[in-house]
Amino acid sequence: MKGIILAGGSGTRLYPATLAVNKHLLPIYNKPMIYYPASILMLAGIRDILLISTPRDTAMFRDVLGEGHQYGLRISYAVQERPDGLASALTIGEEFIGKENACLILGDNVFFGHGLPALLSESVSGIEKDGGAVIFCSYVDDPERYGIAEINGGSVLSVAEKPKDPKSNWAITGLYFYDNECSRIAAGVKPSARGEREITSVNEEYLRRGKLKAKLLGRGFAWFDAGTHDSFLEAGEFAATIEKRTGLMLGCMEEIAYRKGWIDREGLLKLAAPLEKTGYGRYLTRVAHEDR
Ligand code: DAU
Repeated sequence: MKGIILAGGSGTRLYPATLAVNKHLLPIYNKPMIYYPASILMLAGIRDILLISTPRDTAMFRDVLGEGHQYGLRISYAVQERPDGLASALTIGEEFIGKENACLILGDNVFFGHGLPALLSESVSGIEKDGGAVIFCSYVDDPERYGIAEINGGSVLSVAEKPKDPKSNWAITGLYFYDNECSRIAAGVKPSARGEREITSVNEEYLRRGKLKAKLLGRGFAWFDAGTHDSFLEAGEFAATIEKRTGLMLGCMEEIAYRKGWIDREGLLKLAAPLEKTGYGRYLTRVAHEDR
């Protein structure tokens, strides 16, 4: 399965913080926001990743993540000329996806929770076996801000983008697993009333085909879409609280690469060396000296 991170957009909801800097490069506590979605793909076992951003910002992501070899990944880059909607990620990524299945994650989505790796692997194997699409839903208090799924037992009854009159509190998070049909379906999506090619329209088509499944993130999971001043701060505070309390990092690409066996001890120590003045670097050194 291939992975796509969408990290473009205009970031206007975080102005003035994002006037000159791409939102996904701002730090959530002690690491760039982009580490968190990249970590989710890694936890799903995905090593071939396309990062899509704006004409202005793509080069900066390359400065941060490079070709990904240092993490045992292959990272390539593509440009979204205009922020014309999330479904575009699947058409821009069509050639990259090739004949494979795809996992799309939004660059501002931050997930935490025990058992997440198992849910991710289940989704990868589910798509590989049965095709279709899997969405991840999280219970929220403010459903009019998100794509919303109406759920009955294990089935999705409807999906709607930012409904005025939401049929449930299950927000569709920015993590989507798709079979190889996704680029074709996305190519047929017309702009919505707000002028965007909505990912919800892609999900709606899978639903129409009877091929949309949902995984529900209940109590014990935290999900943030760090796209506003408040949710950005909440995500950072959450990460800091958990990391300080447990001494274990969240969204740490270097650690995941090492624990997955994609890089060796020497590779991890090499990543730690330039960070040695920080708690982050000392953490990597500590991990390198523990038993895997
Ligand atoms: O976060 C989950 C929500 O994300 C879903 O519940 C909604 O169904 C989905 O439409 C989306 O809603 P948002 O209004 O929060 O999307 P936003 O415009 O904030 O963009 C999400 C991310 O994608 C953000 O990191 C910026 C990036 N983006 C967005 C657009 C529209 C792009 O890279 N290109 C784009 O064209």
